[in-house]
Amino acid sequence: MPAVLECSDLRRSYTTGRGRIDVLRGVDLVVEPGEVIAVLGPSGSGKSTLLHLLAGLDTADEGEVRWSGRTIAHTQSDVARRRASHVGLVFQHHYLLAELSALENVTLPARIQGRRAEAEARELLAAMGLGERGDAHLHALSGGERQRVAVARAMVLRPPVLLADEPTGSLDRASAREVYALLRELARERDAAVVVVTHDEGLVADADRRLRLDDGVLRPSA
Ligand SMILES: Nc1ncnc2c1ncn2[C@@H]1O[C@H](COP(=O)(O)OP(=O)(O)OP(=O)(O)O)[C@@H](O)[C@H]1O
Ligand SMILES: [Mg+2]
Repeated sequence: MPAVLECSDLRRSYTTGRGRIDVLRGVDLVVEPGEVIAVLGPSGSGKSTLLHLLAGLDTADEGEVRWSGRTIAHTQSDVARRRASHVGLVFQHHYLLAELSALENVTLPARIQGRRAEAEARELLAAMGLGERGDAHLHALSGGERQRVAVARAMVLRPPVLLADEPTGSLDRASAREVYALLRELARERDAAVVVVTHDEGLVADADRRLRLDDGVLRPSA
């Protein structure tokens, strides 16, 4: 079985007013089905840049990204269509729609594809400890609850990979631990691999692999 997600020799530079910065200088990564990988590294080391490339939200200068063995195509419409079912995304900000209920937010990716997915969404909310809150509107939910809705939404199309960029970065410690534990459990139940970027090394102590982005390359972390 091919790796659910892999990249080879990924390079990305930015040209700014202060000149060119080589953020990623040849990143290699192979993510096996169901594996949990933590990506650590100082601020500005390129963690978000890497996650965006893995998600097909940005294009590398060199190197390639493969989803289940298939190179992600260079035409954006094709990537967008494949991304919906291959990668679930969670960011530090929830990016939920304030006009919709928790349940409506979770079903939205499915409804865009012409499916209702209400039973699936209710199950996901229950798994995230929000079984009773499906009809709640966003303003009635705490920050931690909103992130739990965002995780449920990311999983509604059953992607084999969940990419999370500081998913608990806006939460206090207790809430961060709770949200992360629920995310892990949900991914495990659904056999989804997880790549999680975080500053909080303690949070990801139980990851299958801990990697550090430093000087533009990814290395095993001590
Ligand atoms: N669109 C852009 N244009 C120019 N420079 C950028 C752009 N995006 C990121 N950078 C620069 O690339 C470097 C890496 O940024 P990135 O956001 O990937 O870091 P990070 O590891 O996610 O940091 P943090 O932990 O603070 O979120 C930084 O120096 C940043 O300023
Ligand atoms: Mg970042």
